[in-house]
Amino acid sequence: MADSIVIRALDAAEAERRLAELGAILRDAVEGGASVNFLAGFSQDEAEAFWRGQLSGIAEGSRHMLVAEEGDTLVGTVVLTLAPQPNQPHRADVGKMLVLSSHRRRGLGHRLLDAVEALARVQGRTLLMLDTTLGSSGDRLYRSRGWVEYGVVPGHALSTLGVPTATAFFYKEV
Ligand SMILES: CC(C)(COP(=O)(O)OP(=O)(O)OC[C@H]1O[C@@H](n2cnc3c(N)ncnc32)[C@H](O)[C@@H]1OP(=O)(O)O)[C@@H](O)C(=O)NCCC(=O)NCCS
Repeated sequence: MADSIVIRALDAAEAERRLAELGAILRDAVEGGASVNFLAGFSQDEAEAFWRGQLSGIAEGSRHMLVAEEGDTLVGTVVLTLAPQPNQPHRADVGKMLVLSSHRRRGLGHRLLDAVEALARVQGRTLLMLDTTLGSSGDRLYRSRGWVEYGVVPGHALSTLGVPTATAFFYKEV
């Protein structure tokens, strides 16, 4: 049940200890065909390397990670990256919104998105941006939560199978 699943922050030390689980969530998304920067054939090692690359930002506070946890198992992630530009102290990017395929369509995506928006407000970041494949599950999620599409770029990214796909770009003031 989604209600028994907790949404909480993960610090860098715990994220490092749980790289295998985080990697498994990312690999599950790519294997399911989600366009989240990687191509089919993505390995567990590559997935863990991606998350390892996020750790220093989390440790220094320029990046924040939220997870969905069922019992002692991670089942979802979302990352808030604070814009580093001195003239954009109010902006942040949302990324790696991932729910294990076994746990989708139970409201976890909505909960993670609400939580990351609340976290952004706490961080003083009131303008959020993200992008996703046009027509994807993420696209529907963001539209349903009041995100505003400000453009679509045809052929912006390859699908996991290497086919050019359109990306929709969104912002939200929170
Ligand atoms: C996008 C993603 C995070 C959404 O996660 P999720 O947990 O399935 O999201 P939710 O359950 O909150 O909502 C998804 C759908 O389930 C529906 N839903 C929510 N609770 C439900 C329930 N109890 N019963 C039936 N349907 C339900 C929602 O209405 C929504 O429907 P829609 O897609 O037709 O609009 C997930 O699909 C995912 O990880 N996709 C792969 C990675 C990806 O593409 N991420 C976005 C990249 S930016």
